Amino acid sequence: MAHEPTQTHDDGGVSNAKAHGGIADSDHDREFPEDDLFSGLTVRDVSFRNRIVMSPMCQYSSEEGLANDWHLVHLGSRAAGGVALVMVEATAVTRDGRISPGDMGIWGEQHVEPLARIARFVETQGAVAGIQLAHAGRKASCEPPWKGGHRLRTPESGGWTVVAPSAEPFNEDDPLSEPLDEAGIDGITDAFEAAARRALAAGFRVIELHSAHGYLLHQFLSPLSNHRTDQYGGSLENRMRLPLRIARRLRDLVPAGLPLFVRISATDWADGGWDINQSVVFARHLKEVGVDLIDVSSGGLVPKAHIPVGKGFQVTFARKIRDGAGIMTGAVGLITEPRHANEIVTGGDADLIFVGRELLRDPYWALKAQHEFDVEPAWPLAYGHAFKRRTK
Ligand SMILES: Cc1cc2nc3c(=O)[nH]c(=O)nc-3n(C[C@H](O)[C@H](O)[C@H](O)COP(=O)(O)O)c2cc1C
Repeated sequence: MAHEPTQTHDDGGVSNAKAHGGIADSDHDREFPEDDLFSGLTVRDVSFRNRIVMSPMCQYSSEEGLANDWHLVHLGSRAAGGVALVMVEATAVTRDGRISPGDMGIWGEQHVEPLARIARFVETQGAVAGIQLAHAGRKASCEPPWKGGHRLRTPESGGWTVVAPSAEPFNEDDPLSEPLDEAGIDGITDAFEAAARRALAAGFRVIELHSAHGYLLHQFLSPLSNHRTDQYGGSLENRMRLPLRIARRLRDLVPAGLPLFVRISATDWADGGWDINQSVVFARHLKEVGVDLIDVSSGGLVPKAHIPVGKGFQVTFARKIRDGAGIMTGAVGLITEPRHANEIVTGGDADLIFVGRELLRDPYWALKAQHEFDVEPAWPLAYGHAFKRRTK
């Protein structure tokens, strides 16, 4: 699809392109074209063909962190299926930062080429290749979910000692975590930087920092998991220090033309925890650092949260952060219908729509959404010509 940037806003080099001439018909009296689900979006120098993102989803299918044929097909089919951005699952920046022994990793040079193969294929399909960089902290060393997701407690069972801001475990009866000291924190920061360098070498054009779902950086943010008394604990400023430090490192490393996203949990859904007001403050700081978009999820920090799960239940947080911090947002969570996804964009709640499980059910969700809206589906070349010939 051709992109015609129509406006450069004072928002970090973002311009919107309306490439499809589809659902939000242009009104020439308006200064800004109305954006919809199929409008292009250019962030820095990267153009997205529409607003649909494949949300990062762990496959627990790697050995020693290596991407394999499963990941190529899993991610490649969604790129062929018309999404604008394919985000590789939480990819561990250190070996002990894996949730499970099957997690994808990027802690060594050996991880680069298998990931590069995926990035290359995704890009040949007209999608942008992105990768989420992660460290699980106290939620590391677990079985994959289909085995119950329980903590692997001993080396004999395949587990390892986990690190975290404080000793308190995720589940009450899990082994204690090892609190990170200054050297440990420096090491984690360096690991994120080295991982981002490898991700860029592999050809990824969007880097997303995972600061959500109760993993390490979220553990630092939340007063429920961070009981430190040093410069990384206590006040909001201190709790934000490590995630901001890492975001800054990544921004310094990632070329100016490439976007940096951060996924956050907007709330812990738990009394005394991280909440939307702190999230807005955090997002403002991330914007100052040069982060381009906040991918707004929620929960995951404590096991006993009361989460009102339902259609688009996190969209309101994306809106609050977009308005409160003046930064682009991604909405995620039970967005399953194209019309709903479209309303989120046209209503100004979010700039990108991250789709998770519905894309597992249907890799062609984006193409079908285009069909539903009478927008010419961006079929892969080898498919599209066949449909055109048939309609003649
Ligand atoms: C199998 C599976 C794996 C997931 N892995 C990740 C992950 O690696 N990183 C992440 O930030 N979120 C992960 N998530 C959360 C999704 O990205 C998404 O936020 C969540 O599923 C809600 O969106 P949905 O209702 O469209 O599925 C995962 C979800 C599923 C179902």
